[in-house]
Amino acid sequence: MKNLVLYYSQTGSNRYLAERLAAALHCDIEAIRPVWDVPFLMMAGLHLGNKKLRSRLADYDCVILCGPIWVGQFIAPLRSFVNKHRDEIRQLAFVTSCGSSDEKKDEKFGYGPVFRQVGRLLGDKCIRCEAFPIPLVLPADKKTDSESVMKTRLNDGNFKGEIAERFEGLVKALKG
Ligand SMILES: Cc1cc2nc3c(=O)[nH]c(=O)nc-3n(C[C@H](O)[C@H](O)[C@H](O)COP(=O)(O)O)c2cc1C
Repeated sequence: MKNLVLYYSQTGSNRYLAERLAAALHCDIEAIRPVWDVPFLMMAGLHLGNKKLRSRLADYDCVILCGPIWVGQFIAPLRSFVNKHRDEIRQLAFVTSCGSSDEKKDEKFGYGPVFRQVGRLLGDKCIRCEAFPIPLVLPADKKTDSESVMKTRLNDGNFKGEIAERFEGLVKALKG
């Protein structure tokens, strides 16, 4: 299966995850580059689309789309990628490093509603959604501390234990 990792990252965690995935899967990787990369405007619905991709989607069996969640949303750069390329995408897996914990995934700002939105947009083409919540890399007493969640980035030093096991499971599944 020929995979392509496409990612958007504002503060680095999803770039870290995307690069790690591309290395584990020995596949190509490209950043999604919004024409106007201003998060608070994109969050407010002001998104002018993305710059043209260098990759040819027709060359790949599966796109692994990686990016954060903001205010409970499937963020604009990722959504506009899906809307623009839906017909060319054969299969897609959505992967996110987000602030929401597994315990709170079905709340308003959790990853659950976003996964359901991705499923609705892509139907059968969506083969998997996987979350790598920041609380997984925090010590027990900091997991629910929103300041710690917001300022922590994934890196080689903290990508251990449960999050690394989840990652290995995803890689295995994507290798098919
Ligand atoms: C303004 C803002 C809003 C956010 N809203 C959510 C949210 O609703 N749900 C969530 O799980 N994480 C939320 N987060 C946390 C990000 O998803 C998380 O920090 C992510 O790892 C950032 O990815 P990046 O470093 O690749 O940009 C928010 C972060 C910011 C800055």
